[in-house]
Amino acid sequence: MPEKVTAPKILAMKAADKKIVCLTAYDAYFGRIADRSGVDLLLVGDSLGNVVLGHDTTVPVTMDDMIHHVRATRRGVERALLVADLPFGSYNESPAQAVKNSVALMQAGAEAVKMEGDYTDEIRAIVKAGIPVMGHVGMTPQSVNNFGGFKVQGKGEASAKVIAAAKSIAAAGAFAIVLELIPADLSKQITHDISIPTIGIGAGVHCDGQVQVLHDILGLADETFRHASRYVDGQNLFLQGMERYAADVRESRFPKPENSF
Ligand code: KIV
Repeated sequence: MPEKVTAPKILAMKAADKKIVCLTAYDAYFGRIADRSGVDLLLVGDSLGNVVLGHDTTVPVTMDDMIHHVRATRRGVERALLVADLPFGSYNESPAQAVKNSVALMQAGAEAVKMEGDYTDEIRAIVKAGIPVMGHVGMTPQSVNNFGGFKVQGKGEASAKVIAAAKSIAAAGAFAIVLELIPADLSKQITHDISIPTIGIGAGVHCDGQVQVLHDILGLADETFRHASRYVDGQNLFLQGMERYAADVRESRFPKPENSF
């Protein structure tokens, strides 16, 4: 059994100049497959709102949704660090609210939490409660209604705000930070300027690691995104399997004698 990945080990990978491989997972089976692939960190992302629950954004995702999927994923994952997203509205009222909901995710099986935005008092309180925190800046999907769509952030003068947020999140005690949909030059500068690992999604190659939504790299969605690459044409692969099964049932080729008792 390969060595368990912990938050301090993820942090140490930056100094050791080792790229950090991260993926999302939302259930036990895919969590197990992703864990066996040797990824370092698995995120039960609130992107489950899009790719599992069929919403257009992550805004409708609740703590109950997250807890349900963290419990399921926990059952499949042994080696990778399991991180859970704090969903929309679950941490921005007060540090006490942020700690309470982080504790609930940890008790469901997470080993760290992730939160979007520059909530440094909340990050400090969660870390003080014994819970490793990942930050997330740039295009933070829970704020899609403020941004007016899923758009690249931090261009031109707006870069200063993203740099300041990343620095304050690192200073507040986060062990890593996601940089989403920002120019590659900006993520290169942030990666140079802060001591914690940067994990990019649509943020170029200079980050200390990369994270992708599992369904995007497996080609399960109808849409394709510039920030993602399809490593398998999963939709056609599964479709063909289901079509073959349906044809076999209709032609009485399934079940075979070896499937029968
Ligand atoms: O919810 C999610 O999956 C995420 C990653 C894309 C970083 O936040």
